[in-house]
Amino acid sequence: MLAASTTAIGWVIFTIITLGWVVYFFGNRRASRPELGSEIELAPNRKPYYDDETLEGPRLERVQLFGVLLLALIVVALPLYWVFEPSRQAGAQSGKESRFVGWGSQLYATTEEGGFNCAGCHGASGGGGVAPYSISDPNTGEVTAVTWTAPAINTIFYRYDESEVKFILVYGRPFSPMSPWGLAGGGPMNDQQIDTLISKLWSLQIPREGCPDGDPNCDVGVLPQAEQDRIAADAQVAAQALVDAGEYATVDEAMGEALFNLNTSSGAYSCARCHTQGWSWGDPGVPGQGAFGWNLTGGSAAKHFPNQGDMETFIANGSEYGKRYGVQGQGSGRMPGFGTMLTEEQIEAVVEYVRSL
Ligand code: HEC
Ligand code: HEC
Repeated sequence: MLAASTTAIGWVIFTIITLGWVVYFFGNRRASRPELGSEIELAPNRKPYYDDETLEGPRLERVQLFGVLLLALIVVALPLYWVFEPSRQAGAQSGKESRFVGWGSQLYATTEEGGFNCAGCHGASGGGGVAPYSISDPNTGEVTAVTWTAPAINTIFYRYDESEVKFILVYGRPFSPMSPWGLAGGGPMNDQQIDTLISKLWSLQIPREGCPDGDPNCDVGVLPQAEQDRIAADAQVAAQALVDAGEYATVDEAMGEALFNLNTSSGAYSCARCHTQGWSWGDPGVPGQGAFGWNLTGGSAAKHFPNQGDMETFIANGSEYGKRYGVQGQGSGRMPGFGTMLTEEQIEAVVEYVRSL
């Protein structure tokens, strides 16, 4: 259908052009004068030109006026161009970004809306949610249906850098409801789609405190005070519950364990979701026994970090692909950094708890 109409349009243009040439040919032929032997009158260079009076008078003035007008145009237009160019470029940039976010939103949307259902598990604004999943027991083969906590991703760039997030999107989280989405991981999305999805994730981020104005993709600064207060309040409640259960004498002592297991914003801040098997589906095993993240029990974490301060720095920054950490540790970039979300005291408390495991 499209091909047929393109061909038809081509034929119409061809006919018009051919007819045009025919008309031009005959028209020109009729208007032409006899050529033979008439060069003497016809040759353009034999035509008498303006005399000096006209050449140096009105004609010169006309040409000069024209030059002045052009100069005025340039004098006005160039600075205007110079003035408007930066904002034009910024506009082009933000236009492109918002187009990317728009495309990413289509991918992010729920299945009913034709997307890949990130919104279904992580919430429409990335605040976290739950995902149905089936766990099969490796020994008995028994399958249990569970509800897996899907972390908040409106703080994902607080914890990971862009290449680390890209890795998660492309390869997913093995043995969790988060499937691989990139072609390289066996998923449905090409590189361009993963990139537009990342633009969408940037647009979902809780704006940072201490960010240069107007930078939508700023990756410096910390969680806004209100969010920090929310984490602190939730940790307080959780620590109080541990004290009430008789596990600790004071809230301060309980704080480390409370933060380790904290489920604020669906587990975005907790360590247990990666380091305690079963925590994500409400059936936690031995705390810190290891799951997606390393086993932290038996003093193994303390062995990797003889110095407590080094461990605190590691928790604050997270691991980086290929980079060494502690003693004989090599990061994979999968351990998130918490320094922009938790305070130094909170990290210290959680590190003390981890070292006691
Ligand atoms: C079926 C539910 C489900 C869908 C659909 C889903 N996710 Fe996930 N996603 C999860 C779960 C559950 C986790 C956490 C896995 C774990 O416990 O390690 C996760 C983890 C993540 C993480 C890492 C978060 C962190 O802090 O560790 C990112 C980023 C992410 N998802 C983004 C996406 C995007 C973008 C999409 C859409 C293409 C998507 N997810 C689709 C369930 C889902
Ligand atoms: C998204 C999953 C995830 C979360 C959440 C997470 N970790 Fe990790 N953690 C890892 C992974 C994976 C490693 C292994 C290092 C690597 O691959 O870079 C690791 C490594 C570590 C190590 C080093 C262990 C060793 O012996 O080398 C410590 C200590 C640690 N995590 C503590 C924490 C604490 C404390 C928290 C919470 C504040 C936390 N982790 C949250 C995934 C996670």
